[in-house]
Amino acid sequence: MNVLVAKTANDAERIAYTLIKERISGKHDFVLGLATGSTPVGMYQMFKQDALDCSHVTSVNLDEYIGLSPEHPQSYNRFMKDRLFDEVPFKQSHLPKGDASDPEAEAARYEGLVRTLGVDLQLLGIGENGHIAFNEPGTALDAKTHVTELTESTREANRRFFDRLEDVPTHAITMGLDTIMNAREIVLVAIGERKAEAVQHMIESVPTVDWPATILQAHPGVTVVLDEAAVSRC
Ligand code: GLP
Repeated sequence: MNVLVAKTANDAERIAYTLIKERISGKHDFVLGLATGSTPVGMYQMFKQDALDCSHVTSVNLDEYIGLSPEHPQSYNRFMKDRLFDEVPFKQSHLPKGDASDPEAEAARYEGLVRTLGVDLQLLGIGENGHIAFNEPGTALDAKTHVTELTESTREANRRFFDRLEDVPTHAITMGLDTIMNAREIVLVAIGERKAEAVQHMIESVPTVDWPATILQAHPGVTVVLDEAAVSRC
C-alpha cells in the first residue's frame, strides 16, 4: 500500500487527480471505476476545469441506492451526471440500476459487465466505519456485486444529501470486495478528521471483515491519498 499524505484536502485531490490523468492520457481504451460521495467532487471539478479528454474512457461506478430511479435527485446516476458526465463526455458510463424490478438479477448483470470490461483503475472513498463502495462491516471478503442493507451509521452519515433520515434508502446494489480487488490499480482518497479512525484501521489493522477497507492491504497496486486530518490517528 503506497500511502501519500498531502497538507490540505485540495492538495490530496490534486495528487489523486494527477495520477488518474496520467493513467488515462495517451491510452487507446481505458476502464475507469468511479465513486460517489463528497470526496471525489473536488477531483471531478478538476476533470471539468482541465476539460480532460475521456472520450476513450469507459466508466463503471461502484454502487447505487435501491428504489431510486436514475433521474432521482439523490441517486448516484444523477450525482454522476450533475458532477461530471454532463460536462465531460465519456465513451460509455455504467452504474447499477437502482429501480430494477429484480435487484438481485441486476447485481448479477452488473457483476458480469464489470468483469467483462475489466477495471484498469478504481477510484475509492471510504466510509467512517471503514466501508468501501457499500461493503459494510461483516461483508464477506469474496463478495461479488450484491444487494446490501445499509447500516444505520452509513444512512446517518449520508442523510446530509437527503431531506430526512427516512428518505435515505435502506438498501443498495454495490460492487463486492472481490469485484473491487479485481481492478488492476486502486486509488483511495480520504479527507478530514471524520475518516481518521477508518484510515488508521485500513493501514494498521490486521485484515478483518470488521473494517472492510483492510482488504486493500492484499492488493499489489493500491495508492492511498490522504490529507493531514485523515492521517491524524496513525
Ligand atoms: C458512500 C459511498 C462510498 C463513499 C462513502 C463516503 O457510502 N457508497 O463509495 O466512499 O459514501 O462518502 P464521503 O466521500 O461523502 O465521505
